[in-house]
Amino acid sequence: DPSLKQMASRMSVNPKKMKLGVAVVGSESSWRAANTESIKNAAAQDLGIDLIMQNAEGSQDKQIEIIRSFIQQRVDVIAFTPIVESGWDDVLAEAKVAGIPVILTDRKVKLEDDSLWTTFIGSDFVEEGRRAARWLVEHKPVSGETQIVELQGTAGSAPAIERRQGFEEVLTQNAGFRVIASEVGDFTTESGQQLMSKVLQQGAIPQVVFAHNDDMALGAIKAIEQMGLKPGKDIIVISVDATKLAFQAMLAGKLNMSVECNPLLGPQIIKAAKDLATGKEIPVNIITAESIFSQETAKRDVTTRKY
Ligand code: AHR
Repeated sequence: DPSLKQMASRMSVNPKKMKLGVAVVGSESSWRAANTESIKNAAAQDLGIDLIMQNAEGSQDKQIEIIRSFIQQRVDVIAFTPIVESGWDDVLAEAKVAGIPVILTDRKVKLEDDSLWTTFIGSDFVEEGRRAARWLVEHKPVSGETQIVELQGTAGSAPAIERRQGFEEVLTQNAGFRVIASEVGDFTTESGQQLMSKVLQQGAIPQVVFAHNDDMALGAIKAIEQMGLKPGKDIIVISVDATKLAFQAMLAGKLNMSVECNPLLGPQIIKAAKDLATGKEIPVNIITAESIFSQETAKRDVTTRKY
């Protein structure tokens, strides 16, 4: 019966569903996997949300294309994690002209015109860098100069720029620390391993490695072991994220500490998107509360770790 068919198709379309376009950075780390899952799960639990999620696979050009496709599809809200800080002026101006509010999740942008985005939901990366350095100052391994190798995340990305900034800020206020090499990677385990191997093969044996995320630290740990040294003992390894894998490495004595960076932003993103779609005022910055984790408490904390 054609009229029944028509009715059935009308019933399956919920006119009140809000279309949310999410442009994910990529699949570079276990942190990112947890972040992506958190957004998917939060959207799935909300019957009012129609989630369109696309993965930019680490390419800014691709992420811009994805945002343009969201504008063409006339989504109600766009949420995205900018791979790098700059280069978003044009595409975000297009979203503004189309009347689509933009939420920045996890990473910030550098723009002339900050009216091109509505709210930022994520961590204070500068503070994360400071926390890593403060721990190091308290646990200075040698009385003389402490030599550090820094393994940076993706060039031009907010977490790489800001973690470095916070780390340096605290170290320059304390005597006896020197960064002997600062290598640029991309937040992957492979890049951490490659960069650390390169540094060690060049003959530099630092007392400390500061990796901008756990995955890079895990790669560095492999490289240190390949050189016949003991990570966590011969070379102190510190990083950011505090994922389950980092807890396991702490329990094994190979990672000394990790600064927490919470990826579970899904519920806040969904709430902000709904508030924006219904014209509610929302805060400009929604910053996650975080702490640090070390080997001393890893055993207790690993049991409650969700990612
Ligand atoms: O933007 C957050 C960072 O990106 C995380 O610390 C890192 O693991 C991820 O890839």
